[in-house]
Amino acid sequence: MTIDLKQLDLNVRRWLAASRQQILLAMQSPLTVNTKSSRKDLVTNVDKMNQQFLVTQILAAYPEAHIEGEEGHVDKINRLKGLVFIIDPIDGTMNFVKQKANFAVMVGVYLDGAPLYGAILDVWRNELIVGGPDMPLMKNDQLLPHPEDMPLSEGLLGVNGPMLINNRLHVADIALASSGPRLLGSAGIEFKSVSLGQQVGYISYLQPWDVAAGMAIGAAFGLKVTRPNGDALALLEPGVVVAAMPKAHAQIIEMMNV
Ligand code: IPD
Ligand code: CA
Ligand code: CA
Repeated sequence: MTIDLKQLDLNVRRWLAASRQQILLAMQSPLTVNTKSSRKDLVTNVDKMNQQFLVTQILAAYPEAHIEGEEGHVDKINRLKGLVFIIDPIDGTMNFVKQKANFAVMVGVYLDGAPLYGAILDVWRNELIVGGPDMPLMKNDQLLPHPEDMPLSEGLLGVNGPMLINNRLHVADIALASSGPRLLGSAGIEFKSVSLGQQVGYISYLQPWDVAAGMAIGAAFGLKVTRPNGDALALLEPGVVVAAMPKAHAQIIEMMNV
């Protein structure tokens, strides 16, 4: 199967522009907020609405596609064969509810397990980051320079709050060895910051839909995305993810495994 990347990019951009309009409109009415696994794991009517919208759009354009999304509507997939879209309809739902800002919509596209294309829309700022192994890194319509491959000591590091507080896998020590930790509350906004060169990396415990878009975009600029032991991700498994530029990534992995 071959996928026309230019057409895919146009399609995803069109869907995300429509998602953004619908989300901004829905934000003008009170949200329906429910908890899932814990009081910190939220879902709103807007998460569900946007997932339904994206699934409908994807299947209209790519009827053969399999879809993995956070909020149901689609069967859980257990392998990455064929064309797979992995979507997070609102990433950073806590920020969405509490801040009304700093949340993202993410689409990662994979073909037989290999990344093809990723898109992260920072809804509030209207900034769309796209890229892939054969797609340039872009912000909206603008080509972006590749982030600098700087040592850990020279870059800010996005980190997961509980991992930092509990020094899990030496994350507090690693954060202290960087220019400083940052906690943004949205994996999508973290990957966006790394893509823009504002952070040298990001460490968190992530689900497939938290990492799929960022990992595909990172393939445009040499971002390393692995498990703490340096292994490649089995993308459909949740787990700790170390995403960083190569020099910082090597330092992080070394510090995690002392
Ligand atoms: C969450 C955010 C958060 C990360 C969590 C994710 P959600 O996504 O990306 O930054 O720390 O692990 O679950 O649930 O708001 O889509
Ligand atoms: Ca989500
Ligand atoms: Ca998420």
